[in-house]
Amino acid sequence: MHTKTKVLAGVLLAASIGTAASLVWLQRAPKALTPWVWQLPAHFPQPVIPADNPMSEEAFQLGRQLFYDKRLSGNGTFACASCHFQHLAFTDGKALPTGSTGEQTLRSSQGLANVAYHPYYTWANYSLVTIERQNLNPLQGENPVEMGMNDQTQAVILQRIADDENYQAAFRQVFAQDEQPVNLGNLVKALATFQRGMISANSKYDQALQQQATFTAQEERGRKLFFSEQAQCSQCHGSYNFNDQLRDVTSKEIKTPFHNTGLYNIDGKGGFPDGNRGIFELSGKPADMGMFRAPSLRNVEVTAPYMHDGSITNLEQVLDFYAAHGRLIKEGTLQGDGRKNPLKDSRIDKINLGAQDKADLIAFLKTLTDDEFLRNERFSDPFAKRNSQ
Ligand code: HEC
Ligand code: HEC
Repeated sequence: MHTKTKVLAGVLLAASIGTAASLVWLQRAPKALTPWVWQLPAHFPQPVIPADNPMSEEAFQLGRQLFYDKRLSGNGTFACASCHFQHLAFTDGKALPTGSTGEQTLRSSQGLANVAYHPYYTWANYSLVTIERQNLNPLQGENPVEMGMNDQTQAVILQRIADDENYQAAFRQVFAQDEQPVNLGNLVKALATFQRGMISANSKYDQALQQQATFTAQEERGRKLFFSEQAQCSQCHGSYNFNDQLRDVTSKEIKTPFHNTGLYNIDGKGGFPDGNRGIFELSGKPADMGMFRAPSLRNVEVTAPYMHDGSITNLEQVLDFYAAHGRLIKEGTLQGDGRKNPLKDSRIDKINLGAQDKADLIAFLKTLTDDEFLRNERFSDPFAKRNSQ
């Protein structure tokens, strides 16, 4: 029976009989979910929410618990939050993280602010089109192992969750239509809802747009430069999310460009390090060598080290890299002149930055830090709070 009909039948039953038994039945019927209210400034449209995974406060809170729960990894040592720290905008401060069994990943942990708006997930993958689908990768990935959920451990992990009374109740409420609500599909749905709720839209930049803050002279110079021909930054990082792959309720056409910025040129033909060659890894097309998604620059002040492999240490060096039109690596196995990478996006060569320009741009980039997002209790570890009580 449909849940609503069930509740209605229960109410009618209670009204007509009014016995203690029917009241008990009523109490056991799932409680209605609290509707989700987006709190977004005018320059942020609403994200697209999949029809089969509606937002609710209860699903968000369930996903939050799961995100911080080490029981989700095969050996019980790792949570999603082990590689995604709130105070670093959900990056981890490392060039390359290690997973639950000690294996190193090839790419840097990504920030999760505003993930609801991405049409494609991760640094370079056009097949991961929903958060739900992406989240299976860290859970089940084998090369390298991140959370270590595999054929043997999946049942164990789900049992650990099912054995916890609080989880049982929460899954039952959020996924009331399912006979067995604790399953992998629902676990990933709840995780995704938590992540969709991770909106960062209250930086100094956002406040300035709403006349609630004023830029310093240097920040204002940096802002003008960022959106100028001279610096080219807004060509690839120019949206309200400071990237160029976006999907929201106002999107008519979804653009999903990838770019080669000239980080490597190992063989003089544009070669990138094996296993880390951008969307070439998927498509095998020579033109896709070194093509990566432009990351959102929101909270970029706290997401060092930078680039898909964490190979640039700080913002000063990122700006030096752009000013030089690519990276020259003089020695070692990755040696090569990225400035001369034949597959590099032509806009990188148009960038023209002096020392003052770089400092101004960095001052502007720091206005994208959203302290409220980095500290908001709603995104924090619910277990930490319980332990300290
Ligand atoms: C071992 C460290 C590690 C763990 C554990 C981990 N992640 Fe990640 N996460 C990464 C890395 C590295 C990337 C970038 C992957 C790539 O580009 O191949 C990433 C990317 C992502 C993305 C894509 C973001 C975007 O902008 O497209 C999401 C979403 C995400 N992780 C969520 C999760 C969730 C949810 C969990 C727990 C189920 C989790 N991660 C566990 C390291 C980790
Ligand atoms: C042609 C498109 C393009 C232009 C123009 C461009 N970027 Fe990028 N940006 C990218 C891509 C793609 C990456 C990721 C490259 C990678 O990881 O291999 C990136 C990475 C970055 C990062 C690292 C972020 C992180 O989380 O690791 C910063 C910071 C950055 N860009 C700032 C700028 C600034 C400032 C400008 C202007 C001076 C600029 N970009 C111009 C495409 C572009």
